[in-house]
Amino acid sequence: MKKYKLVAGLFILAIVAVIGAVAIPNPLSTQILAEAKYRGYLPYSTDEAVTLAYTRCTTCHPAEKMLKYCSRCGPPFIVVTHSMKKYTELMIQKGGNFKQFSDAEAIAIAQVWNGLVGNWEPDWGSKDVHKLLQGDEALIRLAETPIEKRPIESALKNKQAPGSHKENREIIH
Ligand code: HEC
Repeated sequence: MKKYKLVAGLFILAIVAVIGAVAIPNPLSTQILAEAKYRGYLPYSTDEAVTLAYTRCTTCHPAEKMLKYCSRCGPPFIVVTHSMKKYTELMIQKGGNFKQFSDAEAIAIAQVWNGLVGNWEPDWGSKDVHKLLQGDEALIRLAETPIEKRPIESALKNKQAPGSHKENREIIH
């Protein structure tokens, strides 16, 4: 009986320690939470996703590249995000100090640029988009998710990134 109490006590103590490490803001909890989100265990909030998009996508070129991108420029952002993962892979292979985009990051970031700059996936047809995504399962899953069921993109759909010329496809069609 005493043994059980001890085990139960230790168990509770361990839970309290974990909650404490995560719930009380400190450098460790910040790191744990960031890693959990990077791995997709916890969702990115809309604000976090926007910050992520602006920081992660500006390590090789300025934000202008995204802000000035348009439906006449090339494929939709979901495909661009996949291409940027490829570029990142290539640069890492060449010895560059870059962090590869996780699936969770790519999904969050594609939604941010779709929401803030424009989403022209409907103009491309899902077959073309699938082909261009080259087996990138996470982004294919996003492509198959209706736009109104993408939480970050929905939250941003009435906003516009400063410096962009947002193309509002919903109104045009
Ligand atoms: C590892 C470096 C790297 C990172 C990180 C990166 N890019 Fe790029 N990006 C490039 C390179 C290289 C090009 C090609 C340059 C060119 O041709 O203008 C490019 C070009 C682009 C273009 C212009 C494409 C076109 O057809 O005009 C867009 C839009 C873009 N990037 C968006 C993004 C987004 C969104 C992210 C974040 C998901 C991102 N980039 C992160 C390297 C990177």
